[in-house]
Amino acid sequence: MKTFVVIMFCAIISSVSPDPDNMQDTCPTAPGEQSTFFINGYPCKNPTKVNAQDFKSSKLTVAGDTNNYLQSNVTLLTALEFPGLNTLGLSVSRMDLERDGTVPFHSHPRSSELLFVVSGVVFAGFVDTNNKIFQTVLRKGDVFVFPKGLLHFCLSGGFERATALSFYNSQNPGVVTIGGVFGIDQEHIKNMMRSLATGSGSLVTDGDEL
Ligand SMILES: *[C@@H]1O[C@H](CO)[C@@H](O)[C@H](O)[C@H]1NC(C)=O
Repeated sequence: MKTFVVIMFCAIISSVSPDPDNMQDTCPTAPGEQSTFFINGYPCKNPTKVNAQDFKSSKLTVAGDTNNYLQSNVTLLTALEFPGLNTLGLSVSRMDLERDGTVPFHSHPRSSELLFVVSGVVFAGFVDTNNKIFQTVLRKGDVFVFPKGLLHFCLSGGFERATALSFYNSQNPGVVTIGGVFGIDQEHIKNMMRSLATGSGSLVTDGDEL
């Protein structure tokens, strides 16, 4: 019984806090030196050299380049690109979608994702472990959550570009895509996404359509 309670307690703690807790106020990622040892996370910068710039990033001020087949770009800042995030269990990304832009099905094995729409219209959804799809239309200011580890996607749903920010409860959420490893071509994946949005996809059981 005691063991069961301990296991349950650990399970609850670990489901609330995917990354281990930090043991000091801050630990900005040490810059570029080649590490000869490997730990969970990144070594801290020398504390005497830590400054306010470690906790600021301007890498999301501009849109990523969307001149690609999917007409989308996601710029993710993990603790590697944004040193101040190291040990805080957080990361952030900016998604830019052209009018027909798509971010195809993918998942983050180490974190949930909170998406906040800054401009435009975003059609977003995820699939649960019963293969049920939860999808909806999001407009400026709307927030949507993709639960940890579940496959999810976004499409532009309007007649203009769309931009959204996402926040993750891991300093390194990880990205697993479908397609590449199975040799499924991008056109097929893009069409699959569009058929979900227009309700012609056979999987749709719930939610809005464009
Ligand atoms: C996303 O944008 C960045 C910065 O503009 C660029 O380096 C990268 O190649 C783009 N990714 C894709 C898939 O186009």
